[in-house]
Amino acid sequence: MADTPLLYLQIALRLAQMIASGALQPGQRLPSVRDSAAQNNVSVATVVQALATLEEHRLVQPRAKSGYFVAAASRAKAAALVRKIQQEPEPAKLQPGPRASEQVIDAATRAVVSFAGYSPKDKDFFDNDRIRVALGRATRQKRSTLTEYTSSSGTLALRNAVALRALHLGCALKADDIVITSGCINAVAMCLQTVTRPGDLVAIESPTFFGFLDLLESLGLKALALPTDPRTGVSLPALQLALDTQPIKALLLVPTLSNPLASVMPLTHKRALARLVAKHQLPLIEDVVFNDLLATDARRRAVKAYDSEGWVMTCGSFAKTVSPGIRLGWVDAGRWSKELATLKRVQGAATNAVLEYALADLLTQGSYEAHLRRLCLLMKQRLGQARKMILASFPAGTKVNDPPAGYTLWVELPVAVDTMDLFNLCKRAGITIGPGQVFCASHRYRHCLRLSFAGLWEPREQAALLEVGQLACQLLAGARAQGSTDTPEATRMDFICANEISAHELW
Ligand SMILES: Cc1ncc(COP(=O)(O)O)c(C=O)c1O
Repeated sequence: MADTPLLYLQIALRLAQMIASGALQPGQRLPSVRDSAAQNNVSVATVVQALATLEEHRLVQPRAKSGYFVAAASRAKAAALVRKIQQEPEPAKLQPGPRASEQVIDAATRAVVSFAGYSPKDKDFFDNDRIRVALGRATRQKRSTLTEYTSSSGTLALRNAVALRALHLGCALKADDIVITSGCINAVAMCLQTVTRPGDLVAIESPTFFGFLDLLESLGLKALALPTDPRTGVSLPALQLALDTQPIKALLLVPTLSNPLASVMPLTHKRALARLVAKHQLPLIEDVVFNDLLATDARRRAVKAYDSEGWVMTCGSFAKTVSPGIRLGWVDAGRWSKELATLKRVQGAATNAVLEYALADLLTQGSYEAHLRRLCLLMKQRLGQARKMILASFPAGTKVNDPPAGYTLWVELPVAVDTMDLFNLCKRAGITIGPGQVFCASHRYRHCLRLSFAGLWEPREQAALLEVGQLACQLLAGARAQGSTDTPEATRMDFICANEISAHELW
C-alpha cells in the first residue's frame, strides 16, 4: 500500500477483502453501523461513509430497517476495489513452480467448470446414501469414542479393513503395522519425516503430482526428477544410474496410475523395483491411492507385494474411491512401522474414531467392489469421449495419452503453445485446467496439460472442453504469427519413451 488510506477507506477495504475472500457471502448481513463504529473505534459517520463507498461499487445493498447486505455477484468487484484502494497492479500471471499449484487449486474452487481437480465431484461417483447410513450407524454404536482419547494409530476395525483391502493389491499386511492417517498425502509426509532429514535428496517421477513438489519443498528436501514413460512409469535404467551416482535418501513414486501421466508399471518392473530398493537398502515410499481404480487385482498389484524385507512404505487413502471429504488414509511403513507410529503419536495427529468405524463399515460391504467396477466403467467411457473431442478440436499435432483407468488425461500440445497462457485465458472464461508446469520444477512440460474429468460431465462441461481447444488454437495461431516454431528437439511423449537419463532435473 502506498500510503495509509483514510479511516473510512480502511474500513471499506477490510469489508471488501472479506467479500473478495468469500468470508462474507452474497445475501449475508453486515454488522450494524453502530457495532462497526464501536469495533473500529470510529464515529458512526465514518462507518456510513465506508458503507456508501461499498454501495457505490455495488458490493453491498441497504435494506430498509434491516441494515446492509452483501450484494449478489460481488466477489470479483470486491477484489477490484481492494486493488484500487491498495493501488496494486493487476494480479500477476501464473508463475511456474510449486506455488503455482495454489493458484490452480484456488482457480479450481472458483471456476464454473474445473478440469483441474483430481477429487471426484460427480454425484454418480459416490454412494452418498451409503456414506450417510454408515456414518449414522457409527455415531449410534460408537458414540462413546467421541468423549474418549482413542489409539493414535487408529481403530483396529479400520486397520483390519485396510489389511483386507490390501489383499487386492497382493499384499499381506498386518493390522498392527498399519497406521491410520488423515489422508494419503499426510501418510507420505510422515514417511518422508521418518526416513529423511532437511537437505536430503528424494527421487521422484517426472512429471509428478504437484502436491509432492509442495511437500518436498516444505520439508526442505531436494528432488531428483526421473524420466517417466506415459505407459510403463518410471525408467528403471534411469533410476539405476541415479542410484549409482547420486546420494538418494528415498524414492517417492506412484507406480500404479501415476499422476499426471496415469502410467502403470508392468508387474515385471514392479518386481525389479522391489529388488533394486532392497539391494540399495533404500526406502521406497509407494503411493497406492489410485490402485483400486483399476479393474483387476492383477493390475492393482503394488510393489509392496514383492517386498519381503520391509523397504517399501505403502501409503493409501480412499479419497478417490469412497470420498475425499472423509479425510482418512493409511500407511504400512515396513521396517519403519514403529518409528512412524511413534511420530504420529507425538505429533498428536490422531484421527476421528467415528469416521474410522464408518469407513471400515463401507470398505467391508460387498457393494464396495461393485462400486469400483461401476466407477471404472463410467470413467473408461468418459475418458474415451473426452479423448475423441480433444483429438478433433484441439490444434493439429496434439497428443493425448490413453490411460487404462483413472480420472485424467495428459495432453501434449504443439510446443509453441504455453499452457500457462492457456490457463490464464481459460480462467477468464470460467474454466480451470492443470498447466503442465505445475507438475515439475522446470519448463519441460510448458506445452502440456492435465485435464480431469472427475467433475460433472454434462453439455456445459463438454462445451467448455471444446472452448479450451479453441483457445489453444488461438494461442497457437498467435504464437506462429510472432514467428514461434513448433518443431521440438523431441516432444515429451517421444522423449520419455526414449528413457533418456538426461531428463534428470536437480533443483
Ligand atoms: C498421487 C496422489 N496421492 C495422493 C493424493 C491425495 O490423497 P489424499 O486426499 O488422501 O491426501 C493425490 C490427489 O490428487 C494424488 O494425486
